[in-house]
Amino acid sequence: MWDSLDRLMGFCRQKPLLSSALASRPLWIRPAQPPAVWLMPQAGQGVAVGRTRHWSVPFSWSYSALTNPHVGVVGMSGSGKSFFVKSFLTRAHAVWGTRALILDWSGEYVPWVRQAGGNVVSLGPESLNLLDLGGMSPAQRTAQVVESLRLLTELKDFPRERQWVRMGIEQAYALRRAASGGIRRTPTLNDVTAWLRIQCRKNQDGDRPAIQGAHHLLRPLTLPGADFFARPTSFSLDALLSSGLTCVDLSGLPSESLRSLAGLCLLQFVRESMRSRGPAEGRGLDLMVVLDEAWKICQEDGDPVAIVREGRKYAFGLLVASQTPSDLNPVIFSNVGSLFVFRTAFSDSLDFLQRTLRFPDGVRADIAQLPQGACAAQLQWADRARSDLFFISRVEGEGLLQWVVLEGFGMEWTLEKQAVLDGLRREGVSEQRVAHLDALLQRRNHVLDTVSWSAALEECGLSRDAIRHHLQEAGLPDEHVARTMSGLFSRRLPSGVKVAALVLAP
Ligand SMILES: Nc1ncnc2c1ncn2[C@@H]1O[C@H](COP(=O)(O)OP(=O)(O)OP(=O)(O)O)[C@@H](O)[C@H]1O
Ligand SMILES: [Mg+2]
Repeated sequence: MWDSLDRLMGFCRQKPLLSSALASRPLWIRPAQPPAVWLMPQAGQGVAVGRTRHWSVPFSWSYSALTNPHVGVVGMSGSGKSFFVKSFLTRAHAVWGTRALILDWSGEYVPWVRQAGGNVVSLGPESLNLLDLGGMSPAQRTAQVVESLRLLTELKDFPRERQWVRMGIEQAYALRRAASGGIRRTPTLNDVTAWLRIQCRKNQDGDRPAIQGAHHLLRPLTLPGADFFARPTSFSLDALLSSGLTCVDLSGLPSESLRSLAGLCLLQFVRESMRSRGPAEGRGLDLMVVLDEAWKICQEDGDPVAIVREGRKYAFGLLVASQTPSDLNPVIFSNVGSLFVFRTAFSDSLDFLQRTLRFPDGVRADIAQLPQGACAAQLQWADRARSDLFFISRVEGEGLLQWVVLEGFGMEWTLEKQAVLDGLRREGVSEQRVAHLDALLQRRNHVLDTVSWSAALEECGLSRDAIRHHLQEAGLPDEHVARTMSGLFSRRLPSGVKVAALVLAP
C-alpha cells in the first residue's frame, strides 16, 4: 500500500490556494442547504415542491415550522413563477384543504382555474360596487375607498377635492339609509356624483372648484360602459372566500389603475373577513390570497402589508409574485416566511436580491442562469436562528392538462403534454431542450405530424432507438412507426431519393 501511495505522491504537487478558491470546489464544502429532516415534513403534511440540487432531497413545503405562511415568488418572465403558484395551490388544497383567491391581473390563471373546476369572476362584464360594505361600517368603508382613490388617482395631490369625495360618500350612505326607511341599502358612486352635482349648484363660493374637481374625478367611473365600480356587485363577496378556488380576472378592466382599484377593494374585503372570523386556533392554512404582478398595490403600506403582518394569526396566507423584486414593499419582501427566486438576469434585480438576502457572488451567478422551472428557495424557520438559501432543480408540478395531437397516415394520436415532457426528462433531455420542444408545440397549437415531431426529438439529441420507443409508447402501430422513421431518414436525403420501409409481419 505504501508503495502505491508513494507512486501516487509522485503525481501530486503542493500548491498554495486562497480559501475562496478552495470554497468554490464543491468537494470541500457542505452546500448551504437545511438538513434533510427539515425539508421533509411528515408524509401528507407538506406541499411537494421538487428535489434539491444537492443530494436530491425531496423538498416539501409546510408553514408549520416557518415564521409565517406567506410566500414571495420572483423571477423574470417565463422563468416558471405561475407554474409554481398553480402547483402550490393545487397541492395545498389537497393537503390542508386550503382555499385560494387569485387576483389575476392578466387573466393568465383563468384556463387553469376553469379546468380545475374553480370559480372565475371576470370584472368588466361583472361589476363590483366600490361602496359595498363587506361587513364594515359606513365610516370604515368610506375611509378605505378614499384611501384607495388617494393611492391610485390624482386625488393624492388635491386634499380639498379628497375632502369632498369623503363627504359625498358619507352623504350617500346616510341618504340611502334615510330613503329606505332605516333599512341599509347599499349606495353606489352614482349617488355620490349626484350629491356632488347638487352641492356644485348650491355652492357658489370659494369651494366650488374643489367640488367640481371631486365630481370630475368620480364621473368617469359612472359612465355607461365604464361603470364597473358604480353598479351593484354582481357576484357574492362571501362566495369569493368560501369556494375552494376562485380567480378574479381583472384583465377586462381598461387600465392598470382600475385593476389596482379592484384589487385593493377585494383585499379590503379579505382583510375584514379575516378579522371577523377571529384568530385561527388550529384552523391550519385556511386561505391563500395570490397577487401576481400586483406591484402597484404591493408598494404602499396598505392591505397586503396588513395581511402579511396579521395573516398567521388568522390562518391567511399571502402569495405575491413579481418579475421585479424591488417592486414589492420591503415589509412584504423581508417578512415572507418563504421566498422562491426563479431565473433573474437583470442586474438591478440581482443587486436588490443580493443586497437583501446577502448571498455570495457564486449564488448570484447561479440565479442568473437558472433553467426554466428551477429556483432558489429561502425559508425563515420559526424556532431556528438560520435561513439558508438552497436550490431546487425543478419544480415538479401540475401544469394545465394539455394535449398534444400527433398526426400521420390519416390517423391521430393524443398524448398528455406534461407526461411527454416528463418522459423526455427521464430520457436525459436537458431542461433547455425540453423548454425548446414545449415552445415548438405551443407555436404549432400542439398539433404536429409524426415526422416533424420525431425530427424535433432527434434535434434534441434523442437516438433513433429512443424515438422509435417513444412513438410506440404513444400508441403508434409498428407499421406507422416504421413509416415515420423512414420519413425522418428521407428528410436528410437529397431531393429525389426515396426510402422504402420494410415492415415484417409478426
Ligand atoms: N417546473 C416546470 N415544469 C414544467 N414546465 C414548466 C415549469 N416551469 C415553467 N414551465 C413552463 O414554462 C412556461 C412559462 O412558465 P410560467 O408561465 O410559469 O412563467 P412566469 O414566470 O409566470 O412568466 P410571466 O412572468 O411572463 O407570467 C409555461 O408554459 C410552463 O408550462
Ligand atoms: Mg406568470
